Amino acid sequence: MKRFLKALYREEVDRPPFWMMRQAGRSLPEYRELRLKAGGFLDLCYNPAFGAEVTLQPLKRFGMDAAILFSDILVIPHALGQDLTFQAGEGPKLPPISVEDIPKLRENLDNIHETLNPIYETVRRVKEGLTEEQTLIGFCGAPWTVSTYMIEGGGSKNYAKTTSFSIKHAEEYDELMDLLIEASIRYLSKQIEAGAEAIQIFDSWAAVHSPEQFTRCVLKPLLKMAKRLKEIHPDTPIILFPRGIHPHQLELFAAHNANFEALGLDTTIDMNWASEKLQDKVCIQGNLDPNLLLTTPDVVKEKVTNLLEIGHKKPGFVFNLGHGVLPETPMENLESLVKTIKDFG
Ligand code: CP3
Repeated sequence: MKRFLKALYREEVDRPPFWMMRQAGRSLPEYRELRLKAGGFLDLCYNPAFGAEVTLQPLKRFGMDAAILFSDILVIPHALGQDLTFQAGEGPKLPPISVEDIPKLRENLDNIHETLNPIYETVRRVKEGLTEEQTLIGFCGAPWTVSTYMIEGGGSKNYAKTTSFSIKHAEEYDELMDLLIEASIRYLSKQIEAGAEAIQIFDSWAAVHSPEQFTRCVLKPLLKMAKRLKEIHPDTPIILFPRGIHPHQLELFAAHNANFEALGLDTTIDMNWASEKLQDKVCIQGNLDPNLLLTTPDVVKEKVTNLLEIGHKKPGFVFNLGHGVLPETPMENLESLVKTIKDFG
């Protein structure tokens, strides 16, 4: 079995496998060049030749153990019929949905692959470009995080609109969550059929809730999604990245019947705590502060070594950042990170 998959299943490995969130795109000069050629960001996502090239770019440069498919969490609302644009430097924009839009979105559920088919072709092409040791990660957004973009119309400071929508229009919001779960399961299943070997679910905005809303909007939908996916694809490991949630909430996701093989930990989590409390139940993935990569190669070497020493004490550790690699990250610092990991052990 490949090193990355072994680590997800908490088997012994020679050294921790590594990849970085947002490794494709943004920080790489070769990405920026290709993006200019492709036109818009969505043109890149829906063009298998470009998509495969961008997915593989970081692996060619740095030899990570895993590639993450180049796509976006917002292709799901897009495939369900919500307009989506990415203006350079501004992030995504969508026309915010109202209660009346939900049945219209549902009507498109059976047609999502018409929009998403090129992404499955990207998966097939990436698979051909990987070495035997490298693994392909497919992904989607969690229902809560995706719903915030749909309801707010883009990024948000406090998710007030989504939270009040979910309470004022509880029945319709639950229908929207079920729709997103169903669409995401279909999307992930096609990625797996095309060659994705592990799945990461991003709940990037999971940390904004009262306990009651956390249970309703984060915990329950994610458990439901993981259970459904496991029923269809029992041999595909699932990584959950519930950014910013409290340690006691992480423990809920580490339970064996939660169906997650790995938890992606953000920068704030103490890895010694995670090793003690989580690592006997799930693989832990994380969590170098991406800001450290703006310092110097020597600092990077020291901090990466510290993290590897903690994570590698037990089986079940994947080296990653606590969130995405920043676009302004100097290449020499990434080179130091990679060398430190490859020399480890
Ligand atoms: O290496 C990779 O990151 C693989 C592909 C990937 C993208 N988006 C490409 C992308 C993945 C895994 C995502 C996930 C994603 N998209 C998340 C969850 C992960 C996280 O970082 O928390 C979220 C919240 C989104 C929504 C999104 N897409 C935002 C907020 C933005 C704008 C800000 C930003 O991060 O750049 C995007 C655009 C986006 N998605 C870009 C890329 C490469 C930049 C597009 C560009 O070139 O202008």
